[in-house]
Amino acid sequence: MKLALSLFFTTRIQSISVDRPLSFDVFLKINNELILFKKAGDVISQNRLDDLIKHSVKTIYILKEQKQPYLNSLRAIVKDPDVSNPIRAKFIKETAFNHIDELFNNNDVASIAKESEGLVEDMVEFISGDLNAATTLMKLSSHDYYTYNHSVNVSVYSIAISKCIFGNDKNLLITAGLGGLLHDLGKRKVDSTLINKPGKLDAEEWIEMKKHPGYGYQLLEDVPTISIDIKRIVHEHHEHIDGTGYPQGLTDKQILKLSKVASIADVFDALTTKRSYKEACSAQEALNIMAGMAAGKFDPEFFKILETRADNGGEVTLDKNVDPCILNIPFKKAG
Ligand SMILES: [Fe+2]
Ligand SMILES: [Fe+2]
Repeated sequence: MKLALSLFFTTRIQSISVDRPLSFDVFLKINNELILFKKAGDVISQNRLDDLIKHSVKTIYILKEQKQPYLNSLRAIVKDPDVSNPIRAKFIKETAFNHIDELFNNNDVASIAKESEGLVEDMVEFISGDLNAATTLMKLSSHDYYTYNHSVNVSVYSIAISKCIFGNDKNLLITAGLGGLLHDLGKRKVDSTLINKPGKLDAEEWIEMKKHPGYGYQLLEDVPTISIDIKRIVHEHHEHIDGTGYPQGLTDKQILKLSKVASIADVFDALTTKRSYKEACSAQEALNIMAGMAAGKFDPEFFKILETRADNGGEVTLDKNVDPCILNIPFKKAG
């Protein structure tokens, strides 16, 4: 019996957990047909997984009705104290890619955005629990798509910067992280040729691109389970304190503090990430560029925090009692 593709969702093969019983069936597409590869309860070894990856198998198919067991299996690994931090980090990022994929492609934005809360909670806990965690998360850039990495990175930076500014308020950190993850959601309504265009946009294209914070806000506006602060981060992440930002042209006090954090995280990640048309800046170069912009664009106090955390004279030294956000290696002074 031929199985309808519409019954399935796809995910990266790397998100299968090895050496433990699967809680969902795994299908592979072979000669344009979906074939049951492993049943729930079966175990896949690391060697078998490596072998499939070596043979260019990138995607697995899972029945939509088994999505929850699949997501639960990812979370189980993240929460397993016996799993090493690099593996946990890998699964946090796999989960994040899954959520972002759905956020950008699934019509039910409301449910997916709400589902992402668990993921961000895991990220907050992970960053709080291990000094090198933020760094580990940032360094994992196994995915090709810029928007995916960017969304996760802005989320991680937003959590780390907020931690420096506001301390360990878990709810606030989750809001900052979820805001970061969702901040560019509105890009799903912008023509993808603009999103992926290498190099500069022309005037007309810019007008369209600048609508994305408003589009994102509209997508979330009527979702009661998403807090107003998260909606505001999405809407306000391109506002500048001098009123020259977009789309509303808000000034200093009108902008939510967490939106100001997201704006700093957004620019810092964009500058330090390699794109098809530009090399990545070092953290220090990015900070220098941002310092030039800081006067009217960013909240000077918040920017100072990023700068002083980064510009600590070069080497980041590990101290037992140090605040984890100091250890974001990307903030380290270059050279
Ligand atoms: Fe944006
Ligand atoms: Fe962005």
